[in-house]
Amino acid sequence: MNNLYKNSPKIAPSLLAADFSQMSNEIERVIDAGADLLHFDVMDGDFVPNFGISPLMIASVRNKTDVPFDVHIMVKHPLRYINALVDAGSDMITFHVESDDETEAVIASIKTHNIGVGLAFSPNTQTHEVIPYISELDLVLPMSVEPGFGGQTFISDTYTKISEIKQVIDDMDNTPEISVDGGVTTETAPLAIQSGASILVAGTAIFRSENPKKAINQLRTIE
Ligand code: DX5
Ligand code: ZN
Repeated sequence: MNNLYKNSPKIAPSLLAADFSQMSNEIERVIDAGADLLHFDVMDGDFVPNFGISPLMIASVRNKTDVPFDVHIMVKHPLRYINALVDAGSDMITFHVESDDETEAVIASIKTHNIGVGLAFSPNTQTHEVIPYISELDLVLPMSVEPGFGGQTFISDTYTKISEIKQVIDDMDNTPEISVDGGVTTETAPLAIQSGASILVAGTAIFRSENPKKAINQLRTIE
């Protein structure tokens, strides 16, 4: 997956914060602003108490761009949704280690489609829960807020989790991306990058900014 992306850290605007009545324009706006990938949040109203973006909605914008689609699924039964999400044009599917399906089975299922596989974990889950799977992953995602809603405050324990993952992957041949999602702003991004994050997912900080290009450039900058 690595050669799909041009910058480091890569910036993934989260469409959950976009104006849904203008989805196509919103996508164009953040791509023009320098988005490296587009982050879609899929929710089942069960694993998290909210609904997000559906596979149908993802499919409807797939022909607008070649920018990779980074699809984050907050669902109890990931196996049920993989075919639909692959058909919709996902380049990477990231599911939660806390979901009800067996983690190995979900990883294997996503891999049969030759797309990237990511594993997310919620704030109450510790890093050691995902370490056993890390060599099979293209992306690891320590959530920096409780999954389900945009606009929350970054939980600072996440910096330690990013560093813990970074330490493990530094000794590996095939290094997965470390993504961070939730409450990423110009205040929280620098330490996330210094801790080892290679993808920053940001909704509010980009879509609610008057100048998304400036916001994206600022998020990438450590100083
Ligand atoms: C939350 C989602 C995030 C969310 C981030 O469950 O996974 O992608 O959209 O939103 P902000 O950047 O506003 O915290
Ligand atoms: Zn997300």
